Amino acid sequence: MDSKSPFNDQPQSLTKKFLPWTLYALLPIAIIRLYFYPTILPISPSDQLHQKSSIITTTSSSPSQEGKRADVEIECNYSHGKWVHEKVGPLYNGTTCGTIKDGQNCMRHGRPDMGYLHWRWRPEQCNLPRFEPHTFLQILRNKHLAFVGDSMARNQLESLLCMLSTVSPPDLVYHAGDDDKFRRWHFSSHNVNVSIYWSPFLVKGIEKSETRNYNQLFLDSVDERWASDMDQMDMIVLSVGHWYLHPAVYFDGGLALGCHYCPGQNYTEIGFYEVFRKAIKTTLNSIIERIAVNGNEINVILTTFSPHHFEGEWDKFGACPKTRPYEENEKKLEGMDEEMRRVEVEEVEAAKTNAKQGVRLRVEALDITKLSLLRPDGHPGPYMYAFPFANGIAERVQNDCVHWCLPGPVDTWNEILLDVMKRWYKNLIPT
Ligand SMILES: *[C@@H]1O[C@H](CO)[C@@H](O)[C@H](O)[C@H]1NC(C)=O
Ligand SMILES: *[C@@H]1O[C@H](CO)[C@@H](O)[C@H](O)[C@H]1NC(C)=O
Ligand SMILES: *[C@@H]1O[C@H](CO)[C@@H](O)[C@H](O)[C@H]1NC(C)=O
Ligand SMILES: *[C@@H]1O[C@H](CO)[C@@H](O)[C@H](O)[C@H]1NC(C)=O
Repeated sequence: MDSKSPFNDQPQSLTKKFLPWTLYALLPIAIIRLYFYPTILPISPSDQLHQKSSIITTTSSSPSQEGKRADVEIECNYSHGKWVHEKVGPLYNGTTCGTIKDGQNCMRHGRPDMGYLHWRWRPEQCNLPRFEPHTFLQILRNKHLAFVGDSMARNQLESLLCMLSTVSPPDLVYHAGDDDKFRRWHFSSHNVNVSIYWSPFLVKGIEKSETRNYNQLFLDSVDERWASDMDQMDMIVLSVGHWYLHPAVYFDGGLALGCHYCPGQNYTEIGFYEVFRKAIKTTLNSIIERIAVNGNEINVILTTFSPHHFEGEWDKFGACPKTRPYEENEKKLEGMDEEMRRVEVEEVEAAKTNAKQGVRLRVEALDITKLSLLRPDGHPGPYMYAFPFANGIAERVQNDCVHWCLPGPVDTWNEILLDVMKRWYKNLIPT
């Protein structure tokens, strides 16, 4: 996890020999340093009739709903919609905030086409407003929002920080770990803390090293590097997934369960979908248990799996060459993207059931899988490095077709996040 290049641990030699069913994992594993995930907002049948109503309407019609919250909220299936062209561009650019990781700062790295900055997500069932930094900060006043996960969590956090910075520049008040994997910012204007915790499995894990080329996961224990701070968190955004594709050995209750891609070792290959499910379950159940003990209220968003768009070899020119979004029906959600998302959405639903009886938890999936699948144009590709073609096109050109350019499609994830928060914290929305 040190990491100069996002690719420095990619198991090139392994990829040719993968078991057939692990083929989905081939491309992403080449770039495995770059990850994260999202979810969908489930709609209950009784809500469907009301989906056309806007959030604002809801607020004004709900004085008697205090105390009933979640039961009466109006929800929108954000993942059903299309990308429409929009003249007005993003709220920020590559130089307005200092928090964009180099590899995702496509503007500064000389990406020449700008078309990818001019698309808005239009959900079929509701109106998704442009991001409102003031509203976001107002809702979070005196609160702590924590992002927990892998590099996709970081991608989403950095988008949020850039958008919030346009109205209130934050101070970095804490940083630790190599590559500053644990950081906290303070927005003094609203006394808001926003932090990020590196935890690529959410559960306890030992990441691979020079001496051991596979991860070890302990599926029954939540990762205390973030979980021990849970009593100080008001809202948590969880985002993981791509690290589950790596070779790994899994343990549960002190026993070895099996492994994923561990040739030569005496473990049974069990793949990673059910392992992933177990880890998400452990995570959400731990949150529920700690809320019961600590007595605080926590709102949880699980960002669903974010698809990659490798069309060719990761280190060849043109690995993700598209410059326009797909049409809604041009690209079907399938394979690993579909499975990983399904696990997440199902486990969020299970957690809602488990959390009943007075536990102060709200949880939703931020279902960005399909809408992100439609954005093959949004990745850094070769612009993960600055001016990659300054000396012409080399034979080998590394490409990041996993993470997203900032500004870029991830800004939309945060627009949806805010829309969900506006439902959750209706009474805090300024009128
Ligand atoms: C949301 O819409 C998508 C695309 O139409 C559909 O596949 C999905 O099942 C819907 N989700 C819910 C919870 O209704
Ligand atoms: C970025 O935004 C800043 C502030 O809004 C502006 O001064 C600057 O010209 C912009 N840069 C580019 C490349 O658009
Ligand atoms: C924000 O973090 C600081 C420590 O950096 C802490 O003193 C403060 O209480 C936190 N505020 C909130 C609202 O979490
Ligand atoms: C693999 O594990 C089984 C069951 O634990 C054991 O019987 C067998 O001897 C082991 N094989 C090797 C090569 O270690």
